[in-house]
Amino acid sequence: MEYLQIEGKQRINGKVKVNGAKNAAVAILPAALLTEESVRIGNLPRITDIDKLVKILEALGAKVSFTEERYLHIDSSDIYDLPPPPSLVNKFRASYYLMGVLLGRFGRVEIPMPGGCDLGPRPIDQHIKGFTALGAEVELDHGLVKITANKLRGAHIYLDVVSVGATINIMLAAVKAEGKTIIENVAKEPEIVDVANFLNAMGGHVVGAGTDVIKIQGVSELGSAEHTVIPDRIEAGTFMIAAAATGGEALITDVIPKHLDPVIAKLKEVGIILETGTDWIKVKGNNKLSSTDVKTFPYPGFPTDLQAPMMVLLTQVPGTSYLTENVFEGRFRHVGELKKMGARIKLGGRTAIIEGGHELVSAPIRATDLRGGAAFIIAGLVSCGDTILTGVEHIDRGYEDIEIRLRQLGVNLKRKTANGEIFPGK
Ligand code: UD1
Repeated sequence: MEYLQIEGKQRINGKVKVNGAKNAAVAILPAALLTEESVRIGNLPRITDIDKLVKILEALGAKVSFTEERYLHIDSSDIYDLPPPPSLVNKFRASYYLMGVLLGRFGRVEIPMPGGCDLGPRPIDQHIKGFTALGAEVELDHGLVKITANKLRGAHIYLDVVSVGATINIMLAAVKAEGKTIIENVAKEPEIVDVANFLNAMGGHVVGAGTDVIKIQGVSELGSAEHTVIPDRIEAGTFMIAAAATGGEALITDVIPKHLDPVIAKLKEVGIILETGTDWIKVKGNNKLSSTDVKTFPYPGFPTDLQAPMMVLLTQVPGTSYLTENVFEGRFRHVGELKKMGARIKLGGRTAIIEGGHELVSAPIRATDLRGGAAFIIAGLVSCGDTILTGVEHIDRGYEDIEIRLRQLGVNLKRKTANGEIFPGK
């Protein structure tokens, strides 16, 4: 079992480059199956969700190779019309994109319900609503989703819930449907724009991504393309919050600062000093911080994926802060572990009330989801003593070599097993 040993009372001080966005990459890789020609995708993060997707693509018969660092070449000219391997699909949420893609390619797909972080109920009714509107029949059978369509036809779809996954999945299914699809009340996350750009690079006609209405004129075929994945705003935000919480300084490069506007605004409100350039963000801690009120919302609101890291920062801010989770109702599982470290947090429905400005103390803690895990690393860095953090596999799903990247930021943490330290890549 791997764990992280995190030295406490450390300050971030250094520079780090942001990798490609997980949530864009996990849709772009499957989208490559929509064409019979080859595609080349750059700036891929080397995270375990991507490893699983590569294995799924290979199991479906695609020829996949990393041509040079972070470039993936995918040739899906000759893939099988088979169900993707359930043992891999079960392990991560974004496997749901195989529904839209295989439906678009073969007119049918049979796939288990997706796995992923336990953030409370995570229905896929809006995905299904979209596929049905496009003319597919969807059957749920003992945890299996069976979707078939003789022909997909463009439709006018109004989503009941603003959903990143449903927006992308319907886009994927509709890009080769006959006629025009209009999807209203869609999510506006930058990753959706990135996926739309990739579809268009392959010859699709998708307009409006990044606004709340997306219009797709179906095309009969898609061709080859080359695409570079956008920087991961959540990874960047995690490093920013780590610098802020430890009272340190970080230069975060290869980032699109605009994508972090809601995070920058909130950190400034707390009293953190921030400077931005065309593709970098400089963060500087401050010892005069003010408590605040944070509410998560779909983009351009404060991202739910940074709620847990932000909570750790707020434990270090004197006074009472309020953090309301509006996107996932069950996304407070990190609170119990933070309380074990001495955090003073009370939960009232969807709001966490944080009495900040008290020292955290190290404790053995366990990550049970990706972003909660990242938050625990930050908690370990600010606390007194060494923290042992297990459940690292959750963090590896979305952060590449987290301990190496944080060491570049000047802090000391080690990945270990009972047999000693592990050095990734060696
Ligand atoms: C994606 C991201 C995740 C992020 C989340 C919100 C990926 C792979 N994951 O997750 O990191 O935290 O967006 O920014 O991109 N909902 C329904 N019915 C549906 C779909 C969603 O009720 O059919 C609800 C969800 O339960 C949730 C809300 O809509 O309350 C938003 O979920 P959604 O945007 O779909 O999240 P994911 O796509 O799963």
